[in-house]
Amino acid sequence: MTTTDPVIDARQFRNVLGSFCTGITVITTLDVAGEPIGFACQSFAALSLDPPLVLFCPTKESRSWAAIELNGKFCVNMLAEEQQPVCARFGSREPDKFAGIGWNTSEFGVPVLDDALATIQCTVDRVVDGGDHYIVIGRVQALSESSDSGRPLLFYRGQYTAIEPEKSTPAPWRADLEHFLTTTTLDTWL
Ligand SMILES: Cc1cc2nc3c(=O)[nH]c(=O)nc-3n(C[C@H](O)[C@H](O)[C@H](O)COP(=O)(O)O)c2cc1C
Repeated sequence: MTTTDPVIDARQFRNVLGSFCTGITVITTLDVAGEPIGFACQSFAALSLDPPLVLFCPTKESRSWAAIELNGKFCVNMLAEEQQPVCARFGSREPDKFAGIGWNTSEFGVPVLDDALATIQCTVDRVVDGGDHYIVIGRVQALSESSDSGRPLLFYRGQYTAIEPEKSTPAPWRADLEHFLTTTTLDTWL
């Protein structure tokens, strides 16, 4: 912080940032004993297409991040609309977050949650300091999406919400975007 930086009120910061609606992921790994570990995470984003990179931001206190750092690989599980209880479990500090949750270890060696909308398996590529969080950049190793057309669980102003299908319309620039994505890298755009 420099002497010219304004003081930002913490409550206002949370309220304003909470107005940015996001999906919710559960980021998972295996600890040194081979036990599954994970936490709910909304600070996930696509970063680059070539090379394929994604990012997420764990708090420096996160026990899950400590396990991911040791393992060097993780899985991003994008939650579906019906998975509110899964989010509540992985957003808690319960000791056994996987109790009663369906999952399996992928060939790549990370826990993949049943019924996730999509999953992205990654190696940790780089870690950048981000104040009281880290910015973890992951290199994509495998991707999958569920075969049924499920809808995502969303988080907005501290509450779960969902897409209203009748209000979903294709963006007019969708064709342009698809052309853009096949000819350009995301990191030149971001
Ligand atoms: C909807 C939702 C989104 C969250 N997003 C994040 C996040 O982006 N980064 C983070 O560090 N914690 C986030 N959390 C909080 C963690 O999931 C929570 O602190 C968890 O208990 C950390 O557990 P751990 O210490 O086992 O990693 C989120 C929680 C919820 C419910």
